[in-house]
Amino acid sequence: MKPTHKLLFILCPMLVLGFIYYSSGKLHLHVWGQKPHIKLEPTVNITKKVTIHTTISNVKQEPVLEGAVSVGRIVGPGTASLQRVHSGQDENLRSYFGRPAFDKQGFLVNLDTKLPPELVYKYGNLSEGSCKPGYAAAKMTAIYPKFSKPASMFLDRNFKRLAKVNNYLPPFGFKTQERFIDAILTATKNYGLGPELDSLSCRRCIIVGNGGILSNKSLGSHIDEYDVVVRLNEAPVRGYTRDVGTKTTLRITYPEGAIQKPERYEKDSLFVFSAFKPLDFKWLRQMVFKEKLQGTEGFWKSVAQKVPREPSEIRILNPYFIQEAAFQFIGLPLNNGLMGKGNIPTLGTVAITMALHNCDEVAVAGFGYDMNTPHAPLHYYETVKMSAIKESWTHNISKEKEFLRKLVKANVITDLTNGV
Ligand SMILES: *[C@@H]1O[C@H](CO)[C@@H](O)[C@H](O)[C@H]1NC(C)=O
Ligand SMILES: *[C@@H]1O[C@H](CO)[C@@H](O)[C@H](O)[C@H]1NC(C)=O
Ligand SMILES: *[C@@H]1O[C@H](CO)[C@@H](O)[C@H](O)[C@H]1NC(C)=O
Repeated sequence: MKPTHKLLFILCPMLVLGFIYYSSGKLHLHVWGQKPHIKLEPTVNITKKVTIHTTISNVKQEPVLEGAVSVGRIVGPGTASLQRVHSGQDENLRSYFGRPAFDKQGFLVNLDTKLPPELVYKYGNLSEGSCKPGYAAAKMTAIYPKFSKPASMFLDRNFKRLAKVNNYLPPFGFKTQERFIDAILTATKNYGLGPELDSLSCRRCIIVGNGGILSNKSLGSHIDEYDVVVRLNEAPVRGYTRDVGTKTTLRITYPEGAIQKPERYEKDSLFVFSAFKPLDFKWLRQMVFKEKLQGTEGFWKSVAQKVPREPSEIRILNPYFIQEAAFQFIGLPLNNGLMGKGNIPTLGTVAITMALHNCDEVAVAGFGYDMNTPHAPLHYYETVKMSAIKESWTHNISKEKEFLRKLVKANVITDLTNGV
């Protein structure tokens, strides 16, 4: 063999060996590059048993006062249970790799979210205190990415096409009540807030709860500045205007909560009906057509015999807000889509849910209360004390409060009385 051949003879296997060594090294490196991932897997499995305490855990221990419910049905001293998020959920696992974590309901765990940059730009030129178009929905989407804004405030003649509600019985939908609703809407002929409010390019709404926390705060003139003032059930205005304002755009009501004395109905407000059971639609039809109310069995307390409003001043609240508040926002038991223990949101929370979809800015006042003052009044218009609070079968006040806390903490809504 020539020396060059000898050299090649040795060189070739060496090159082959070298290549094998190099590529295995590459492979090795590759494995090392992946190693944090692979190594983390067992840790991830272990963390499934760990619970993360969310920011909600600082929920105050006192129950919320929604005020829309009459005394005797209200709330228990619900110990606001610490909301725990099981990190076994996909969304939470991602937080380990730098992605945001979400709680069971789909809300961001870390709620201290800033305004998205495009909104900072959009609102940059607005003068201080002016209405910010799309603000509440944008903030809501930032903490709850599943949020989808379109949902009309009231039912209109096309209500049967509302896919999310046509398959649920009241209160979560209107199944079985279509004929009553058709008859009612044929008579009311109006399905919006009215030309002036419907055409506003930016709408500011306030939901006035009935809590005693409204007393002696002189918020009346501030409340009146909102474009849409929503009141609940029989909460009075006359005699309390310094604290609760004079304006009522909507009064949302169910039969047992409706004002019973005809002379107490204010002018220029819409009577907005919210159904909680099938029977309620029958009651509404009798009110709209001014028929004599036949029998009151099936109601849990006495109901109004007359509603002194023209059909054109009556609306039916979209039941989607009850469904969305209960099952998506608060996380109440689905119970096959039927009313059951602790799965009905309070009217105040339903009204806030409606406003998130239909208002550019949302404020609340008169929600919640201070448990440190048990002798303070429960409602701003009654002398009943907070100590009269009872356990509720229908509502889950502590879970509801967790939801409202998220909205306030993330500035989706403004709480004028700091009770939530
Ligand atoms: C804000 O004003 C500046 C200067 O007038 C203008 O260039 C900019 O486009 C405005 N931004 C918006 C969002 O309107
Ligand atoms: C509000 O003020 C009136 C008059 O000063 C007082 O009688 C009442 O107790 C106060 N209510 C509350 C809830 O503090
Ligand atoms: C409220 O929800 C909590 C947590 O899901 C549950 O433990 C409690 O029993 C519920 N209360 C009512 C009144 O349903």
